Amino acid sequence: MGYREAYEGWKADPEAFWMEAAKAVEWSRPPSRALFPERAPLHEWFVDGEMNTCFNAVDRHVAAGRGDQAAIVHESPITGSSRTVTYAELQDLTARLAGALARRGVAKGDRVVIYMPMVAEAAVAMLACARIGAVHSVVFGGFAANELAVRIDDCKPKAVLAASCGIEPGRVVDYKPLLDGAIDIAKHKPDFCVIFQRPEKPAALVEGRDAEWFAFQEGAAPAAPVPVGGAEPLYVLYTSGTTGQPKGVVRPSGGHAVALHWTMRNLYGVGAGDVFWAASDVGWVVGHSYIVYGPLLAGCTSVLFEGKPVGTPDAATFWRVIAKHKVKSFFTAPTAFRAIKREDPAGALVAGHDLSSLKALYLAGERSDTDTVNWAARLLGVPVVDHWWQTETGWAITGVPLGLEPGCEIRLGTTGLAMPGYDVRILDEGGHEVPPGTLGAVAVKLPLPPGTLPTLWNAEARFVKSYLTTFPGWYETGDAGMKDAEGYLQIMARTDDVINVAGHRLSTGAMEEVLSDHPDIAECAVVGIADELKGQAPLGFLCLNKGCNRPHGEITSEAVKLVRDRIGPVAAFRLAVVVDRLPKTRSGKILRGIMAKIADGESFRQPATIDDPAILDEIAAALAGLGLPPARR
Ligand code: COA
Ligand code: AMP
Repeated sequence: MGYREAYEGWKADPEAFWMEAAKAVEWSRPPSRALFPERAPLHEWFVDGEMNTCFNAVDRHVAAGRGDQAAIVHESPITGSSRTVTYAELQDLTARLAGALARRGVAKGDRVVIYMPMVAEAAVAMLACARIGAVHSVVFGGFAANELAVRIDDCKPKAVLAASCGIEPGRVVDYKPLLDGAIDIAKHKPDFCVIFQRPEKPAALVEGRDAEWFAFQEGAAPAAPVPVGGAEPLYVLYTSGTTGQPKGVVRPSGGHAVALHWTMRNLYGVGAGDVFWAASDVGWVVGHSYIVYGPLLAGCTSVLFEGKPVGTPDAATFWRVIAKHKVKSFFTAPTAFRAIKREDPAGALVAGHDLSSLKALYLAGERSDTDTVNWAARLLGVPVVDHWWQTETGWAITGVPLGLEPGCEIRLGTTGLAMPGYDVRILDEGGHEVPPGTLGAVAVKLPLPPGTLPTLWNAEARFVKSYLTTFPGWYETGDAGMKDAEGYLQIMARTDDVINVAGHRLSTGAMEEVLSDHPDIAECAVVGIADELKGQAPLGFLCLNKGCNRPHGEITSEAVKLVRDRIGPVAAFRLAVVVDRLPKTRSGKILRGIMAKIADGESFRQPATIDDPAILDEIAAALAGLGLPPARR
């Protein structure tokens, strides 16, 4: 069956399509139907079915005789280590940790925060929670204590599973003091913490609260998988919205397993025994879907990579891992390829690495520039698929399903075609569909397919307001783009204050909230400006309190430190400039888009509603003093 046939088949009978797809999951109680629209516009899937994600991702493969197959290979060039965990070992590890958690009172529906770097234990922790029906919430290691505290207060975990440290090039990141700081700040206090001590830097434990990873599990009886309702949450993953309060995206268990199964076979073209590698982090949605759950549900071997595309130790590290493990499908963010291309423009470092196992490269997380896509395609000699999705959806909204149709056309500069389940349209401000080739808001007709968010954690009203209100009957993606006549989608920009730095989704609003706390800053605006390597970089415009005559350099340095301390190094906030005033409309709305265009040297139309056009010259003059590369101005 080709793509068009599959897509039309879904459109003609979505219920039959998803019930058929649901057969790939082993249910302890099969669902009687797929869609439950009773609470529309809120939709749920497979509500009356019961299954367990850990069972489907682990035990099932052991029972099928693949216990000796590698489930996870941890490749860690940054620590110089490599480790293979078979499915049988993974079953043992997850059952034991799950048993120990259950012994300490963690039960179905309880939340567990996971704050760990890219070690195999992070995947074990996620699966152990899934095994007993506990809802995990993984927090990315590059976030600071305050961000961790915000998440702890929102999801109120019974336990935290953490590692003593993470390892970044040139430094060890102490996770434990960040965790201690977060628990101090948070109003909610978890009952206990379990700490995985890394040899690079073990941490001091808090008596009575913290347990060491292995000691915690001693004598615990292995836990059996607990049946979980199809619509009950597997995890909550926080993502950036327009304010400092992140959105807790809820992932429903049943639909998630069904949808990921479908994508492994049809989008990524892999099945049991194949090696799949997503070079991302378990703290992001890509890590949840395609380092842990997707590949394991499909019985693949998943590569869990702890390192960077360059510098660990060099720009050949990707090629080394692909050749060593015979990776068939590879998924990463365009930034990673831009970093490699910058260090090794001729791609000379590929020489000597047998990449013949590789069948396709998949890119997502941020806009792909055609230069990088072409470079990667030439170098690797495989199709390069740019595909588009969000934390909210958990799997691709558009892409090119090479598994379903190996010759399916890839159109450069686009993110492919709508996947079955998604009716993607471009709407104008009034919610009317626009003709092909016209820019507009990208929206998806409700219901969203299985696996996508049914709501936000503890925030149903925010869910409705953020996604379902602007265009009634549609899910508002927050992205702007256009479709061509054959349905290939191009994503151009966000329509909100979210920016994308090195494939990491960040809120400029959250950075503004932090900067506003600086005693000398009266007002500020943060915008995303073009960055050759990371796609975008944040830039802060700071207006100081009247009478403040401290050196500007001091204040901008403090501002940079404040964002790093409060949000974390991942915010990559390094640029700030002091200005007298911010450009605003007469109604007081800050013209952030225009400031970004001035910084990027792009042309723009002066809005008729601008309060005082002279401010734009002041902004340009302040940026000139910042010494940005001329290409930016
Ligand atoms: N724990 C602690 N700190 C972390 C971290 C983690 N898990 N991940 C990143 N950081 C820190 C980095 O050390 C860096 O700190 P610094 O300011 O002290 O240098 C900062 O956060 C910014 O990190 P990053 O944006 O990753 O920049 P980088 O310069 O370290 O690396 C790339 C640049 C391009 C190599 C890197 O961003 C990359 O590999 N990107 C791939 C994209 C990706 O994986 N996206 C995920 C979604 S698919
Ligand atoms: P995240 O929730 O972190 O996955 O970020 C989702 C956002 O990243 C989307 O809303 C887009 O703005 C952007 N994004 C993801 N994939 C792509 C892509 N292939 N092309 C352009 N932008 C993308």
